[in-house]
Amino acid sequence: MESTRSRLAHRLAEAGQSHLVQFWDELTSEQQAEMTSDLEAMDFQEINKFFRSAMEASHSSKQEKMDARMEPVPREVLGSVTRDRDCLKDWEEKGLRCISQSSVAVLLLAGGQGTRLGVSYPKGMYDVGLPSHKTLFQIQAERILRLQQLAEQRHGAKCCIPWYIMTSGRTMESTKTFFSRHSYFGLCKDNVIFFQQGMLPAMDYNGKIILESKNKLAMAPDGNGGLYRALGTQGIVEDMDRRGVKFIHVYCVDNILVKVADPAFVGFCVQKGGDCGAKVVEKTNPTEAVGVVCKVDGRYQVVEYSEITLATAEKRSVDGRLMFNAGNVANHFFTLAFLRDIVQTFEPQLQHHVAQKKILYVDTQGRLIKPDKPNGIKMEKFVFDIFQFAKAFVVYEVLREDEFSALKNADSQDGKDTPTTVKHALMSLHHRWVLNAAGHFIDENGTRVPAIPSLKDGTDLPIKCEISPLVSYGGEGLEALVSGREFRPTLVIDESGAHELVKNGL
Ligand code: UTP
Repeated sequence: MESTRSRLAHRLAEAGQSHLVQFWDELTSEQQAEMTSDLEAMDFQEINKFFRSAMEASHSSKQEKMDARMEPVPREVLGSVTRDRDCLKDWEEKGLRCISQSSVAVLLLAGGQGTRLGVSYPKGMYDVGLPSHKTLFQIQAERILRLQQLAEQRHGAKCCIPWYIMTSGRTMESTKTFFSRHSYFGLCKDNVIFFQQGMLPAMDYNGKIILESKNKLAMAPDGNGGLYRALGTQGIVEDMDRRGVKFIHVYCVDNILVKVADPAFVGFCVQKGGDCGAKVVEKTNPTEAVGVVCKVDGRYQVVEYSEITLATAEKRSVDGRLMFNAGNVANHFFTLAFLRDIVQTFEPQLQHHVAQKKILYVDTQGRLIKPDKPNGIKMEKFVFDIFQFAKAFVVYEVLREDEFSALKNADSQDGKDTPTTVKHALMSLHHRWVLNAAGHFIDENGTRVPAIPSLKDGTDLPIKCEISPLVSYGGEGLEALVSGREFRPTLVIDESGAHELVKNGL
């Protein structure tokens, strides 16, 4: 024991992290044992190296704007649901065929801490207040089920879309328990594969690891780009290979509109021969704080709004659109071969980014302090950091109102990306699906609600309408249920048909 301790003390001293054991003598022997095993598992030299290079990169990116090195996405690598309408059917057909051959998997990034939303459980377990009270996890699971069914109907063969779910040390147990308690929402348990991303300690600005209590380091997941290291350490690439997966759709847990394994996106990327693809939405406001996909020094990457000047953000093409308008929504396509290259060759070259945060810590007297301004950094890799390694990068542009609405913040007056805004985005999409299938809505007086609401009526509330993903994945198959009918909201369409809810509980 003594030699373990002195070896550890030596390693800590060498790495300039001896303060981590400053409360050693106050700990119980159990706490000492636990802390020893936590510290023994850490590679302090590597952590110090990550810190130095992340800080260096952060300083130099603050000094130099990207503008002169940037080029927009060229039209030939771009597919667009609005500008290439003629191709959509073909792409969707191609994607459905791949799905029917069980060669498409989905991979969910769900290792985040959801600090802005402020709940103590994983974000995927959040109920945004739909009539059905389905959680984000359930909505996604049901979309997978429905898509499997569509591919099977089209091609007459049973298929499966494996669902890989990346969690972190903080979300793994509760996520797994939630799925098991809900019988995997009807999916086959063997096709839902959980794996865990890595964690890194939070550091102060001098590179000292922060203690969150006398015997615990402040640890945080290593960003959604922690995916690539985890794919290797957790044997996920081999698992995909064993299952015959060739194409992977990666997405974030918080987008309520996400089209998991979107056949048109998959089909487009496959048809174009892409090894790496990004789904984007059009950025229309120059000052919107969204990262844009573009080329920098000839390689693809996401450039954040803060990395360019306003003049560049405001530049327009001849068609009047913003020149840098490919808004990144963290929704990607990868071939398995590309992911394998990343894991085996390129992952160590990825830099950590610095995120300045308010981090709870204990001071030298052992008192817990809650800082009111950022006091340190978390180090994170991003899922899009690997674009630079693509040999055939492709971009697929979709409509924001159809495909992207993210849950980031708790509800507040006029809040953005809140439970209320994402619930409204989903209901508004489902409202449009009903109209497209020739259904109508009437108000409490029996008068038809116009399809395009008048701005004068002062209400921006959507029609209350929810369609189960088990009935429709993307608006298909609704005619038989709604065509020529009039509905009084709240309308719920599920496997037992279309129902008006008597009680408006929204
Ligand atoms: P965000 O960057 O929005 O972070 O994650 P978050 O954890 O959800 O929320 P905040 O910033 O703490 O409020 C975007 C997506 O990336 C995943 C999240 O789960 C979400 O799907 N993510 C984030 C990870 O999988 N791992 C991470 O380390 C960070």
